[in-house]
Amino acid sequence: MPDLFGTYLNYNFPEPQYLGAKYIHRGWIAENIPDDVQTIFDAFGGSQSIAYFMKQLEKKTITNDFLCFNSQIGKALIENSHEKLTSTDVSVLLSPNSRPEHFNLMENLFSNLFFTVEEAKFLDAFRSNLEYLENEYKKALAFAIICRSMTRKVTMGHFAHTRALVYAANPKRIQRNRSLCRPIEDIFMELLPQYNAAVFDNGKENYSYNQNTLDLLPNLSGIDLVYFDPPYCNSHADYQSFYHLLETFVMYWKDKKFT
Ligand SMILES: C[S@@+](CC[C@H](N)C(=O)[O-])C[C@H]1O[C@@H](n2cnc3c(N)ncnc32)[C@H](O)[C@@H]1O
Repeated sequence: MPDLFGTYLNYNFPEPQYLGAKYIHRGWIAENIPDDVQTIFDAFGGSQSIAYFMKQLEKKTITNDFLCFNSQIGKALIENSHEKLTSTDVSVLLSPNSRPEHFNLMENLFSNLFFTVEEAKFLDAFRSNLEYLENEYKKALAFAIICRSMTRKVTMGHFAHTRALVYAANPKRIQRNRSLCRPIEDIFMELLPQYNAAVFDNGKENYSYNQNTLDLLPNLSGIDLVYFDPPYCNSHADYQSFYHLLETFVMYWKDKKFT
């Protein structure tokens, strides 16, 4: 519902921790959007912080990212207008692993590397149960929240280093970031109300895509403005290596050779 001033600025985007996120620059970016722009395409959505602000400004918002875990945030908070996770959904998600013979990828790949065996098993169980949520928006919300919980759990919020467990046992680091030693389930439960509260309907049909922008762009029409925020040339911003674990969790690849 719009606020007294007819805007949706009373909703809050859950604060991201994502390489190159423009969250803190959203006000400046918005100032540079001509008033007559109705439909905006965020071609490199990333954390979706800018797409979310466009949605708040009542624009029809189309967002895209070639990483599936990012496009799931877009489904959860941009395309989704009303679906939230209920306590019944949470009970489903936190149930024991429904198919342990299939859902064991996190345990097999990442135990004792990024997570303890117990945490990795928890993630596999959560992933198995996510399949039982009743629609794509609830699933997207569950993905968005659990992925954010995982980045909260590792130092620097990315997976391009393999020191997560060493850091998680270091009292000085824990003092600076208590999440390092908290169970993922607790972090998930803490974030859940923030994500549920961020779901809103701006009266437009918004979309979140998961494609290479170069392929998608020629197929879109009716766009007034495109916001391009690609990875920077010659920087170390290799999104696949920084966030491989989140993409593996969402895609749940069983047919890839991991080296
Ligand atoms: C600088 S970040 C965007 C940050 C975003 N504006 C935010 O506020 O979070 C660039 C994003 O582009 C995505 N990306 C890179 N190449 C792409 C491509 N060819 N098609 C779609 N997305 C791409 C990356 O996955 C990454 O999330």
